[in-house]
Amino acid sequence: MAQPLTTSMHTTEKVFIKTFGCQMNEYDSYRILKMLESTGYANASSYEEATVILLNTCSVREKAEVKVYSELGRLKEFKKLNPELIIGIGGCVAQQEGKSLLRKFPYLDLVFGTYALPRVPELLSKIKTSRQKIVYTDMNDEEIYPAHAYVPDAKQLTAFVSIMQGCENYCSYCIVPFVRGPERSREIADIISEVSRLTGHGVKEVTLLGQNVNSYGRTLHPRRTFPELLAAINAMPDLERIRFTTSHPKDLSPELIQSFQTLEKLCEHIHLPLQSGSDRILRKMNRCYTAEGYLNKINDLRTAVPHISITSDMIVGFPGETEEDFNKTLAMVEQVEFDDLFFFHYSDRPGTAALRLPDKVPYDTMIQRLTTLKEKQRTISMGKNQKFVGMTLPVLFETRSKQNPEHIAGRTRTNKVVNCKAPAGLIGATVMVKIERSHIHSLSGGLT
Ligand code: SAH
Ligand code: SF4
Ligand code: F3S
Repeated sequence: MAQPLTTSMHTTEKVFIKTFGCQMNEYDSYRILKMLESTGYANASSYEEATVILLNTCSVREKAEVKVYSELGRLKEFKKLNPELIIGIGGCVAQQEGKSLLRKFPYLDLVFGTYALPRVPELLSKIKTSRQKIVYTDMNDEEIYPAHAYVPDAKQLTAFVSIMQGCENYCSYCIVPFVRGPERSREIADIISEVSRLTGHGVKEVTLLGQNVNSYGRTLHPRRTFPELLAAINAMPDLERIRFTTSHPKDLSPELIQSFQTLEKLCEHIHLPLQSGSDRILRKMNRCYTAEGYLNKINDLRTAVPHISITSDMIVGFPGETEEDFNKTLAMVEQVEFDDLFFFHYSDRPGTAALRLPDKVPYDTMIQRLTTLKEKQRTISMGKNQKFVGMTLPVLFETRSKQNPEHIAGRTRTNKVVNCKAPAGLIGATVMVKIERSHIHSLSGGLT
C-alpha cells in the first residue's frame, strides 16, 4: 500500500503531466496530478516551468508508441538545460518496456507501470532524496486506486470515473491485457463515494470507464453486475447524466439494454466496437461473436431505444484479411449505419497472438481500405446528422465553442456536439436547442 503523504515537499515543485492514449490514461493522469497537488506540487503550464515532467503513455498501436519516444527525445534538451529536472514515464509503454527505457533514454529518472499510480508521490520523493533512478513495474499490488480523497476542479461539469482496471479478453491484436493486467472491478460503494464527491463539486455528468465495462462486477464478492452499478448511480441526487465506455458486444446483456429504458440519467449512446464484419476475421481476432450476433444486438438496442446513437471501432488489414473479408466490413457499416466510427489499420504489437499470424496485409492495401471505409462512413455520418435538423433537443452546455467565441458548446444525450450562439452564463445548464445545421462531426443551432 502507498504510504500516507504529508505536505512535506517543497512548494516550488511544479509537475507537468503529458498524457497519451485513452480516457483511462486521462483519468489516471488526473489522479496523479491531484495526489501530487495534495503533497505540495503545483500544476506547471509548460515543460519550461516544470521541476518534474511525467509522460503517461499508450502503446495500443505502434504509432502511439513511436510518438512517446519522439516526445522523450525532445525532453533530452530540457534535462541538459536543467540537470535537476526529474523526468518520468508511466502508463502502458512504461509497463511494456520497463527498465530497457533507462538504457534507451539515460536521462530518464523514473519508469512507473500501470499498477504504480498510488505510489507516484512516494517514488518521486525517493528520487529527490537519493537521486537514484527507479523502475517500478510490479503487477501484483492489491490496491490500484489511490484511497486518497481528491477535490475536482472548480467549474468541472463532466468527469471520468474508472470502474474497473485491466482486461482479460485477449483479442488477438491487442496489447491491453498485457500492459493493464487482469480485469478487476472497484466496489460499488467506492465508485458511489467518488461520484458523490464529484457531484458535490458541481459535476453534472460522469463517464464510467473500463476496457470492457459491461463485464463489470465479475471479480467482486458477492458478484455484482454493470446494470446494478448503473441503477445505484442513477439514484444519486444532483447527477444529471451517466455515460460509459467501452462495451464488448459479447457482454451486452438484455438487462443492460433495459437499463437504457428504465434509468432516466443513462444517456442514449453506446460505443460498441465491431472491429470487422467478417466472421472469419472475427474468429481470428478472438472476439467471440459473429456479424449476425452483432446485428441482433443492434436490433435489440434499437427496438428498445429507437433513437440510440451507436458508434464503433474498426480495424482494417488484420493478418489474412482478403478483399472479400473487407467487403463484409463495408457491408456491415452500410447495414448498421453507425453514428460515427473510429478506424485503425492493423498494427503489430509485441507479445500478442496476431503478431505471429501469417499473411500480413501490405501497408498500402491497408491504407486503401481505410480510405474506402472512411468515405463510406462520411456519407452515413452526414446523413445521420442531417436528420437532427429541425429537432429541438436538450443540450448540456460544457464550454465556450472552439470555433466562435460568441458560441458555447455542449452535447445532446446521444453524444452529438452542438454549437450554439448563447451567453456563456448558460454553461452548466441543460437547455433546449433547435438544431439548424448539421456537419460531419457536430450540429449547430439556436436557443428556443
Ligand atoms: N477496450 C476497448 C478499447 C481498446 S483499444 C475495446 O475493447 O474496445 C481501442 C481500439 O484500438 C480497439 O477497439 C481497436 O479497434 C484498436 N486497436 C487495438 N489494438 C490494435 C492494433 N494492434 N492495431 C490496430 N488497432 C488496434
Ligand atoms: Fe483489447 Fe479486446 Fe480487451 Fe478491448 S476487449 S482492451 S480490444 S483485449
Ligand atoms: Fe493505450 Fe493503454 Fe489506453 S495501451 S489505449 S493507454 S489502456
